[in-house]
Formats: sequence, structure tokens, C-alpha cells
Amino acid sequence: MNHWKRLTPAQIKARVFDALNQNVDFRDPKVLGVPASHLDDKVFYADAPFLKDAPYLATLVQNPNHIGLHTTGSSEHFFAGTQALEREVIRVLAEDLLFAEADSIDGYIASGGTEANTQAIWLYRNEFMQEHGATLDEIALVYSADSHYSMPKAANLLQLATYPVAVEDATRALDTAALAQVAEQIKAEGRKYVIIVSNLMTTMFGSVDDTEVYVQAFQSAGLTFRLHLDGAYGGFFYPVSNPQPTHDFRNEHVSSITLDAHKMLQAPYGTGVFLARKGLMHYVHTGEAQYVEGQDTTLVGSRSGANAVAVWMILMTYGPHGWFEKVDILRRRTEWLAKQLDEQNIRYYKAEASNILTMRAEDIPDAIARDFGLVPDQHDNPSWYKVVVMDHVTIDALEPFVFSIKDYRSSEVS
Ligand SMILES: Cc1ncc(COP(=O)(O)O)c(C=O)c1O
Repeated sequence: MNHWKRLTPAQIKARVFDALNQNVDFRDPKVLGVPASHLDDKVFYADAPFLKDAPYLATLVQNPNHIGLHTTGSSEHFFAGTQALEREVIRVLAEDLLFAEADSIDGYIASGGTEANTQAIWLYRNEFMQEHGATLDEIALVYSADSHYSMPKAANLLQLATYPVAVEDATRALDTAALAQVAEQIKAEGRKYVIIVSNLMTTMFGSVDDTEVYVQAFQSAGLTFRLHLDGAYGGFFYPVSNPQPTHDFRNEHVSSITLDAHKMLQAPYGTGVFLARKGLMHYVHTGEAQYVEGQDTTLVGSRSGANAVAVWMILMTYGPHGWFEKVDILRRRTEWLAKQLDEQNIRYYKAEASNILTMRAEDIPDAIARDFGLVPDQHDNPSWYKVVVMDHVTIDALEPFVFSIKDYRSSEVS
């Protein structure tokens, strides 16, 4: 761990206020040209005394705009202080969590996993078009059937054909025969370029796609591909609970990764993370953004610097060991639940070292599922219900659910 170190609350406060002091203060009479200001002080009480002890809330009130990309080129000088904290977040995640080489990754705090996945697909689509002269109908977007709906959404926006790959029902692993067929179909349709989005824990199952299976399939089909990891759910979890060199930047085939700080990291909504190897972001550079210093290489445009500060504060509050301990507790609670369900012969899927447990809906009465807030794979006629063991899902919270299942099972037998 070169950059990720636990800091005390006093150190965190000092760093954030120092960063805010390096940003422009909108109360300065010499900030005349920016179409923005501090939060409206008739509504948001800029002088509330507690703000001096609340670095995140103070950042919200000061309202920095992190428009653009800050890991390369120039950026709006007005917000240089908090941009530096965002750069630190990108470095910690790329190098200390996901084992990238020093200074090899660009990235930014996106609005969420949907934006970060779309940014990746947009970037590779443009790369294929700009470098290889590809037309839209020569590009294929491939992902597993368990992937998040942000993939078809991005395909719709970017006008790409989609190829969802079937997974095996019990293991949720990619169906290799189906994948081989998809590769053949892509070739038969005259497509030459493939954007692969591989899951680093799926939304419904917590399953992790084997990146090697994708690489083998498209290498042997002789197709040119780029591979993006969707770690919106698992990016802060799996690399800690089950680190694998195939599922981070040690894998040369992984060009970019999505993470979502507003899921496992419990950051405020609006905090996804997009990370990409250097040398790629220029494919989505919007040079027409001439009034923005450094122009814009992100999908979103204006975005709150408070989101970056929130992620920085959470990472530094825990440090790498504190974060490992948190992940380990969630993983152990999930194992506890799995053991209770085994005793009741409830069928479920749980990936190794995961904190999602997904039960066959046939084994769980709808009333219990509703009562305990389980989430179905689909609201009409569900096949699965999931429990996601987040911070608030303690064993004390899980136990009444287990008791209800036991009661239901014994009433079935009697
Ligand atoms: C695997 C995965 N990818 C992408 C997303 C989309 O993230 P967001 O809702 O932050 O846009 C989610 C959200 O649940 C997800 O689980």
C-alpha cells in the first residue's frame, strides 16, 4: 500500500479544509465569470457553527464543480484543492486496491455505475471507429445475461448491437458453448470489433465472470476486443475478499474498471468511479468544451466535488486494514446465513467470499420475502430472491428472517 493510509478524524478535517481553502471562495468579489456559486445561503445556512467541524457538509456548501478529468492535462483552476483529493482517490483505488502500475491509470468520480459503464463502452466504440475506421455495424457489445441493465441502456444510446451470453443456472458461470456461438454469430454478421463487459460481482447474484473465458473465446475467433470490468457492485468488495490477478489491473486484458462508492462504500448517491489505463480517455475528449479549462473527457459534465471528498474521507477513515475488516465481517455474516439456510434445505446461490445470497423463489413464500424486504430478480413471477449483507444487515437483523423460514418449513412438514 503506497498511498492508502488510515488518517485520524483531525487529519481528515485538516486536509479537507486545506483543500477547500485552495479552491476559489465564491464570496470573493473577483470570481465574476463562473455560472455557479456557493449553495443558496437563504436555504443552506453557510454560517452554521457546526460546519467548521463537518468537512463533507462544508464542501457541499462551498459547492466545488469537478467538471472534466483531473488525472491528465489541465483542469479548472478554481477547484484545484479538491481536485487534488479526487486524484488521490483515483490513485489509491487504481494502485492500492486494483494493483495498477504507478501513474498508469486515469479516472474520475462518475455519477454512478451506469455512467462509468457507459463511459467505457463509449470510449471503446470511439477507439474502434477512430483507430480502425470501424462502422457501427462492425462493433458488438458482449456481456453475460446476468449483467446490469446499464449495458443494454448504453448500447441503445451508442447504437451498438448487443450479444448477451447465457449463464449456467446453478453456477451463474458463463456458458462456454453459448459464448462460442455468440463469437461465431458476431463473425458471421461481419462484425470485427468486440466490447466485452465482464462482471466483478453481478447485481443479483454477486457472481464473477471468468475473464479468461472471454479472452479465449474472442482470441480463438480472431476478433479484436477490449475488456471492461463492471465492479459497480463488487469493486470495493471482491478485490478485498478474494483478490485475483485476473480481476484487476494486473490482467493485461483489463483496460478499465467501474466501481460504485454509493453501494459498498456507503458514500452519498452520485459517486461512481471510472478507471481506465492511460492513453484511452482521449477517445471521448470533447474539444468543443472550449470554455472549460482542459475541456471535457467525461460523460457527465458538471459534477459535485463533494462526492470526491466523500469518497476520499471514507477511504482515509478506514485505511486498507479497516476496510478489510469491514468486508470480512460482511462476508462472515453471509456465511452465517448460508449455514442457517443449509440446515433448512433452502436452495441458494452464493459466490465464494461474497456478501450476496440469492435464494430460489420456490423455497421462499412471497409473504416472507415481502416482510423482510428481499429483492426479486423480476417483480412479475420471480425465480430468485436476494439478501444483500450490507452494513445494516447484521446477524440480529438476519435472525428473525431465519426464524420465519424455520416456522414456515416446520408448518410445511406438519
Ligand atoms: C453490477 C452493476 N453494474 C452497474 C450498476 C449501475 O449502477 P448505478 O445504479 O450506480 O448507476 C449496478 C447497480 O446496481 C450494478 O449492480
